[in-house]
Amino acid sequence: MKFTAIAALTTVLLAAPAFADGHATGDAEAGEKVFKKCKSCHMIVSDDGDVVQKGGKTGPNLYGIFGRAAGSTDFKYAKSIVAAGEKGLEWNEAEFVAYVADPKKYLAAYLDDSKAKSKMSYKLKKADEAANVWAYLVSVGPAS
Ligand code: HEC
Repeated sequence: MKFTAIAALTTVLLAAPAFADGHATGDAEAGEKVFKKCKSCHMIVSDDGDVVQKGGKTGPNLYGIFGRAAGSTDFKYAKSIVAAGEKGLEWNEAEFVAYVADPKKYLAAYLDDSKAKSKMSYKLKKADEAANVWAYLVSVGPAS
């Protein structure tokens, strides 16, 4: 009985990284390097206060971004991203890659509002880099 439990636990632990990959197509290791471009404005700090990456406070904490409603942390967001979250936008790889390529343009399209605004002025145009940084964020996020 005990052995079965341990065997089952081992299977879960071994399967965990593969499961995380299910939410991401990119390379998390490469993505950790890409995160350097985000660090000046974003930190990654778990709900328990564990610091994964030190970073600036100009933007929201990116811990646990997978599946999170847009604009939903205690950060002081611009109105558009909060409106998008209220309309149902939850972060997954596709939405994330499109958003970081051009946050303002993305929100304008999502909200069908040409006057949409974004506080994030930075653009990460390279989709492969965006997919990698997404994979990194998923890999350091809570087990899902
Ligand atoms: C110059 C500062 C700055 C940089 C650099 C920056 N961001 Fe942002 N980011 C922001 C701000 C400010 C917001 C809040 C946007 C708003 O309120 O409209 C934001 C919002 C976000 C959000 C939405 C989060 C949420 O809670 O809904 C994501 C995702 C994001 N940034 C990813 C990134 C990634 C990935 C990088 C690096 C490739 C990056 N950002 C680089 C400032 C920045």
